[in-house]
Amino acid sequence: MTTRLAIHGGEKSVPEGLMKNWPPVDDVDRKLVMAALEQSCHTFGENCTKFQEEWAAWNGNKHAIFTNSGTAALHMCLVACDCGCGDEVIVPAYSWSSSATCILHHNAVPVFVDIKFDSINIDEDKIEAAITKKTKAIIVVHLHGMPANMGKVMAIAKKHGLKVIEDACQAHGARFDGKKVGTIGDCGAFSFNQNKCLCSGEGGMFVTNNPEMQQKAAQLWSFGETRTPVQKRDYHAYALGWMYRSTELVAAFGRAQLTKLDHYQATLKANAKRLTECLEGTQYLILPREYPKAESNWYNYTNRFDFKAMGHEADAREFRDKLVKAMQAEGVATNVWQNFILPAMTVFQAKNGYGNGCPWNCQHASPVSYDLGQYTEAQRHTDTHTGMTTPLRAPNSPVVAEYVAKGIRKVLANIDQVEKIVL
Ligand SMILES: Cc1ncc(COP(=O)(O)O)c(C=O)c1O
Repeated sequence: MTTRLAIHGGEKSVPEGLMKNWPPVDDVDRKLVMAALEQSCHTFGENCTKFQEEWAAWNGNKHAIFTNSGTAALHMCLVACDCGCGDEVIVPAYSWSSSATCILHHNAVPVFVDIKFDSINIDEDKIEAAITKKTKAIIVVHLHGMPANMGKVMAIAKKHGLKVIEDACQAHGARFDGKKVGTIGDCGAFSFNQNKCLCSGEGGMFVTNNPEMQQKAAQLWSFGETRTPVQKRDYHAYALGWMYRSTELVAAFGRAQLTKLDHYQATLKANAKRLTECLEGTQYLILPREYPKAESNWYNYTNRFDFKAMGHEADAREFRDKLVKAMQAEGVATNVWQNFILPAMTVFQAKNGYGNGCPWNCQHASPVSYDLGQYTEAQRHTDTHTGMTTPLRAPNSPVVAEYVAKGIRKVLANIDQVEKIVL
């Protein structure tokens, strides 16, 4: 018996109104945010400094600086690691754009390394081949909450005298070998934007255990003014600076959400586990898997499709879009995340960041190749993936995961109906 897909007029798999939005807001948030609104200071104040302390305590870092975005925190990492004009910084070929554009922000040159298909993270076995005399640092991205292989990355960095920056923007609470991400490399960045496991609307956190790095990052963060953490402002730019501070209202919301983060994480893990149980054995589906020592926070539950087995290798990308459309019609809130690998993005292909070819044609830089043939695994992932966040987040329960699995299985059991979809 065939079941008609919702996109062709059949019944939806996920009941309307079942899935709740992210993040849950309650009286804890209202109380702190309203108190921040009523106080006279609305710029960087007590909520901001407390948020820094509370985040550092939660994550296990000695220092934390609250920023207006994860991208700002990443830029601060570059500066903390002394990356500048002509230096090369290694970064995975698949991530959010600012994992790599943060390198351009400080006039350094990104060098892309392909990913491992299984972990969707930098292929640590390909890092050494990308190291040159100019290499200063490695940016690892714990993508979708799955920690990169920090054991191998730290060993390579030590051998070659390189710094390690953790882009933990998606990975709050994820662990490698029992250690929370953001505490393993030299410094790291978290994001608190709308979709992240801790949402303060927008915002980010720079973290490090190194006081000198903290100082360098703080200088960039606030107009280049800060000389040491104890000195009072004298409104003088001692170095190149940006304005990356955030505000009291945002910090108050972030602090309130932080009190609930452990509960949110436990819910997300339980829901992801249930989804995996329900999807296990589904034809054509490649499920996300933790690997030894890696503990995901399940930020984005990312599936890939086996288009070879499906007979759709030639039109994989287009057919993936049809599958996603069919799943969305079933009420499954799944989507395609980054649809381009990083080196394919125009800013890198055109090699024109600041104009006139800068920073690539700077006298201190060496030529780098962004030939797209080097990143086959990143491209394979890009063409075959679909991911989801909200259905597995609190306050949603494993029941939502069960309905989501039903929708995914229904679509994959009716490929002939997906073939009829017009995009
Ligand atoms: C992996 C990764 N890095 C960096 C960022 C940048 O964070 P933000 O949007 O807070 O600047 C994001 C989020 O958008 C991200 O997912």
